[in-house]
Amino acid sequence: MTEKNLLYDTILARSFSKNEQKRLGYGAFIASLLFVFTLCTVFKPYLSPLPVVELQLSVDEDGLRMLRITEPQKPQAITSSNDATSEDSEKLIVPTKQDNVTSNGVITQSLVSSEDDKLSVCNDTSLPKNHHDSFNCTTTNTTISEEQVISDESKLEKTMKPICNKLKRTELCELSGDVRIHGKSATVSVAITFAFSGNSTWHMRPYARKGDTAAMNRVREWTVKLKQNADDQLENANFSRCDRNHSVPAMLFSLGGYSMNNFHDFTDIVIPLYTTARRFNGEVQFLVTNKNPRWIEKFKELLRKLSNYEVIYIDDENETHCFSIVVVGLNRHREYYKELTIDPSNSEYSMSDFRSFLRDAYSLPNAAVTTRQTRRRRPRILILSRGRSRAFTNAGEIAKAARRIGFKVVVAEANTGLASFSQTVNSCDVMVGVHGAGLTNMVFLPENAVVVQILPIGGFEWLAKTDFEDPSKGMNLRYLEYKITPEESTLMQKYGRDHEVVRDPSAVAKHGWESFKSVYLVQQNVSIDMNRFKPVLVKAFEFLQSQSV
Ligand SMILES: *[C@@H]1O[C@H](CO)[C@@H](O)[C@H](O)[C@H]1NC(C)=O
Ligand SMILES: *[C@@H]1O[C@H](CO)[C@@H](O)[C@H](O)[C@H]1NC(C)=O
Ligand SMILES: *[C@@H]1O[C@H](CO)[C@@H](O)[C@H](O)[C@H]1NC(C)=O
Ligand SMILES: *[C@@H]1O[C@H](CO)[C@@H](O)[C@H](O)[C@H]1NC(C)=O
Ligand SMILES: *[C@@H]1O[C@H](CO)[C@@H](O)[C@H](O)[C@H]1NC(C)=O
Ligand SMILES: *[C@@H]1O[C@H](CO)[C@@H](O)[C@H](O)[C@H]1NC(C)=O
Ligand SMILES: *[C@@H]1O[C@H](CO)[C@@H](O)[C@H](O)[C@H]1NC(C)=O
Ligand SMILES: *[C@@H]1O[C@H](CO)[C@@H](O)[C@H](O)[C@H]1NC(C)=O
Ligand SMILES: *[C@@H]1O[C@H](CO)[C@@H](O)[C@H](O)[C@H]1NC(C)=O
Repeated sequence: MTEKNLLYDTILARSFSKNEQKRLGYGAFIASLLFVFTLCTVFKPYLSPLPVVELQLSVDEDGLRMLRITEPQKPQAITSSNDATSEDSEKLIVPTKQDNVTSNGVITQSLVSSEDDKLSVCNDTSLPKNHHDSFNCTTTNTTISEEQVISDESKLEKTMKPICNKLKRTELCELSGDVRIHGKSATVSVAITFAFSGNSTWHMRPYARKGDTAAMNRVREWTVKLKQNADDQLENANFSRCDRNHSVPAMLFSLGGYSMNNFHDFTDIVIPLYTTARRFNGEVQFLVTNKNPRWIEKFKELLRKLSNYEVIYIDDENETHCFSIVVVGLNRHREYYKELTIDPSNSEYSMSDFRSFLRDAYSLPNAAVTTRQTRRRRPRILILSRGRSRAFTNAGEIAKAARRIGFKVVVAEANTGLASFSQTVNSCDVMVGVHGAGLTNMVFLPENAVVVQILPIGGFEWLAKTDFEDPSKGMNLRYLEYKITPEESTLMQKYGRDHEVVRDPSAVAKHGWESFKSVYLVQQNVSIDMNRFKPVLVKAFEFLQSQSV
């Protein structure tokens, strides 16, 4: 039995401690066990690997009723100030008929925004935080229900955990019961058996980059409707019958947004998909909104490991699909500016679990670089070449210098398909590339490998740090950075030294980075000054001869 199974069993056992047995009464307890048995049989694939989502039983006047309680989702800081209640979610929670579930307990619509909820979308540099983010630099009030729910933790005994949750960068609905999905009208209808108050209609876009208008505009909006009981679903012809009954849970997510950009594919979709889907151990049906067969093809190896079923493109489905468990949206890191990483406070999986999942999916041999290896053989360096923009004009010279230092050099462009390129990356000890989506391939590097990010001119420091430097540390990689001078940019040849674009990129940013971004991102190649760059290569070489991180 795996650790996770054991954990689950412990939790289940705990929920039937002596106290609870007394409370339930003997007959009810036996009935409960029978029910558990049935559940385990029916939902076994869902239950067993799943300590986070617990199905527990409670008894009230109506007899047995299934409740779904998710693990308390709270940042550490708040947990500690709330110790008294932090264990509550493992208890049997019995919502009584008298206690209406408050609106924030079930579904949160408009919460009072506190100072903490305000999020500065752009900071002083006036640069969008991501070259694709085209939102304006304003301070928006972001409504964050997680805090709200947490501050109401003491009411947990009386309330249910939310069904829909607004996190900083994503929205997530976890629905159980009679859940019916009609693709054509982009509606999910769920019949719930407990009382609730508040808004029963929830609009959401199931893509984990909330706050980024340009991305979210390319994501279909879905409506989740709570119905007080199953009969209410009959009102709407689209939900009156189940055309297709599914026995496994479903996950609904979008392949719109910035999909097909490698960086966004991983940070907005693949990693959130992994942390949301992995617990199902393959027994989950993916429902895709914003159909994108190229994306499905690109990530087929990963999808095959996460789901045992063919993806359903749900948007054009006129048939109503029925499930007993549906997750709409993907989980994501709780901090706004965190990329290519997994939030330990928010997931049972870690970045290192994710990386080992990738190695599994692509059969990558190298988990870590060891000094024994690199002392025995020539370390391998991968020079990521780019075809159209931010290309190295002197890749040959870089390769020559690297060879002299003692590297075996591989020059490659990330355009061969992930299965093959992941092998190339995983076989290397160092990866060098200009800031751009190609660096995302660091996910395939073995631990202790070295990433060298080259920054073009144009004020990329913040992006470089957020997109690749910080993530590389979270993957136990070593990181080096090389910032080019204007002389090393083809922009100088084109505009001359005195042009504002070259002279003061940060001033340009103040005029509105949008209009200049294509200059920096598209019209710039880099010609590395080997005298300046050689020490960086030497440093990378030395890293490999020294102790691991
Ligand atoms: C529960 O909601 C109903 C209908 O909204 C209301 O009449 C009743 O007073 C509420 N009960 C409590 C305990 O808030
Ligand atoms: C931008 O924000 C980041 C993260 O809050 C901060 O570290 C950085 O110093 C800020 N940059 C400027 C120029 O204020
Ligand atoms: C940003 O602001 C400008 C001027 O106020 C406006 O024209 C533009 O549409 C805005 N862009 C976005 C993405 O909101
Ligand atoms: C943000 O919240 C403040 C109060 O906290 C309010 O005065 C302001 O109008 C809100 N801004 C927006 C854009 O909703
Ligand atoms: C049922 O679905 C169709 C799209 O197929 C939509 O136009 C219609 O509004 C839906 N009916 C209701 C009552 O939501
Ligand atoms: C519920 O929320 C929807 C969308 O946010 C809104 O259009 C609707 O007016 C709200 N209904 C109520 C009763 O507040
Ligand atoms: C799906 O299940 C429901 C309830 O058990 C049943 O009424 C319906 O006929 C089933 N639909 C199909 C297509 O089997
Ligand atoms: C969709 O399904 C509804 C209900 O079964 C039916 O009336 C309608 O004709 C269907 N529309 C299409 C385009 O198949
Ligand atoms: C950058 O290099 C690529 C490949 O060599 C070339 O196609 C492109 O035109 C160059 N762009 C600029 C702005 O020099």
